Amino acid sequence: MSDTKKKETFGGTLIFVFIICLVCAALVSISAVGLKPLQQANKLLDKQTKILEASGLLEKAGSDIVGTYGKFVVAKMIDLNTGNIIDGDTDMFDERTDARDETISIKPENDMAGINRRANRAVVYLVNNEQGQLDTIVLPIIGSGLWDLMYGFVGLAPDLNTVRSVVYSDLKETPGLGAEVLNPKWKALWPGKKVYNDQGDVAIKIVKGGAKQGDVHGVDALSGATLTSDGVEHTLHFWLGDEGYGPFIANFPNKITNGGLN
Ligand SMILES: Cc1cc2nc3c(=O)[nH]c(=O)nc-3n(C[C@H](O)[C@H](O)[C@H](O)COP(=O)(O)O)c2cc1C
Repeated sequence: MSDTKKKETFGGTLIFVFIICLVCAALVSISAVGLKPLQQANKLLDKQTKILEASGLLEKAGSDIVGTYGKFVVAKMIDLNTGNIIDGDTDMFDERTDARDETISIKPENDMAGINRRANRAVVYLVNNEQGQLDTIVLPIIGSGLWDLMYGFVGLAPDLNTVRSVVYSDLKETPGLGAEVLNPKWKALWPGKKVYNDQGDVAIKIVKGGAKQGDVHGVDALSGATLTSDGVEHTLHFWLGDEGYGPFIANFPNKITNGGLN
């Protein structure tokens, strides 16, 4: 009994705690490093799933997301300022992290998406149909909602005016309110809407109280979530305008041949 008591010294306890901390830290580090490739693979799979959804191929893909993506989708890196296609690792590009040191500030009067800065580059996705013809161009979008930035994609038909889809992939809006942007019923309001008016200005809009029948630019606002709805409109105006994909859209027919697969 007295022997055991002697061993329980303050120094001994400290060493024991230190060793436990060291072991735990090592375990956490090893699992963080070990799981990183899995996390990256899951992130890529999630992105590919959203891109297939934005191009209407998700149902067809079933569980074969990677195979369907590989068969139909071609990712291209573009210079947002010139609209030209440039070289770059499209899989590894992440506008949230990799592009931080090559961003430009956006003048407050042009920053309707509320993002302050944007990268000079972006990755766009050209999605072909079974016949190998270009069917949808999927463009990543980022913009402020009520609570935080919302990340998603807008899918356009090859005329780069007709909307195929608006698909959000990451947002912190309130479930039942702003997060209703994920509701299939609301997403179903987008296909066929026109981005630009006859003057070439971005005219797509969210209409509080509901868009009139036959309004080719208007989509119903989410009820009880006007702020998120406005965020979606402002995000689309930014990204489809001159500060976003405008130069790419203006250059597009000259730059892409053979369904973008070359
Ligand atoms: C807890 C809480 C969460 C809310 N979440 C959202 C939201 O995610 N998106 C949004 O636009 N409005 C949200 N609102 C409501 C806004 O504050 C605001 O009232 C609403 O956008 C106005 O929309 P309405 O004019 O359609 O009623 C939330 C309000 C509360 C109290």
